Amino acid sequence: MRKPLIAGNWKMNTNVDEAISLVRAMVSELDKIAGVEKVLCPPFISLATVKELVKNTSIQLGAQNMHFEDRGAYTGEISPLMLVNLCQFVILGHSERRQYFAETDDVINKKVKKVIEFGLNPILCVGESLEDNESGRTEQIIARQVKAGLSGIKPAGQMVVAYEPVWAIGSGRAATGKQANSTISLIRSTIAGFWDNNTAQAVRILYGGSVTSSNIAEFIAQPEIDGALVGGASLKANEFVGIVSQTASLKSTR
Ligand code: PGA
Repeated sequence: MRKPLIAGNWKMNTNVDEAISLVRAMVSELDKIAGVEKVLCPPFISLATVKELVKNTSIQLGAQNMHFEDRGAYTGEISPLMLVNLCQFVILGHSERRQYFAETDDVINKKVKKVIEFGLNPILCVGESLEDNESGRTEQIIARQVKAGLSGIKPAGQMVVAYEPVWAIGSGRAATGKQANSTISLIRSTIAGFWDNNTAQAVRILYGGSVTSSNIAEFIAQPEIDGALVGGASLKANEFVGIVSQTASLKSTR
């Protein structure tokens, strides 16, 4: 059985002091919730500080991006060597990276390979735009992004995929549980075809896009959805704790 996972993607929000306050406001409550993996993804500059604050708790950390080279003349970039002792997960291919930083499937694939090589867990984001969705191209886009993201990688059960329809991100217009479940089931069968069924059954696939404590239950109730990648609502301690605790009561593997 797949262990549910809730990851909070803080995006470009919080300075170090704000990150400390946010973690302090939720660390003990989050720590107590069993049966769900809890992952905080603060900005790079706060990772080391947050690592200290969650030491000896059940909370794990993730980065929001990473460069695919180990080191070198890449001004402003962060490498896997810098992350390997700081976090367990790395979000890759987020639609904001694809859209605003021109990340291609090929670049994202290089990053996924590196994350796996370093023993970290990738959270590979895929999702269709509103235009693709309205023109009935969702399946095609998602299958392309999944296959390109996994290209050249041996079956890896630690892979996490996040299905985030671009039109649902930060818009307050979440997908329905049913819609998300059906696209996620397509992602799982794409992985089964590309790798094998056993690995596809082990890979956790999250939903992301306007998840809050008021709609999380609708997603978690779906059989194919293993958790959520939460943006805006992860910046509010009560909201995030509410999302994790509902996930635990609806889908815990305890
Ligand atoms: P949102 O963002 O929850 O604010 O819609 C989700 C994400 O982009 O990961």
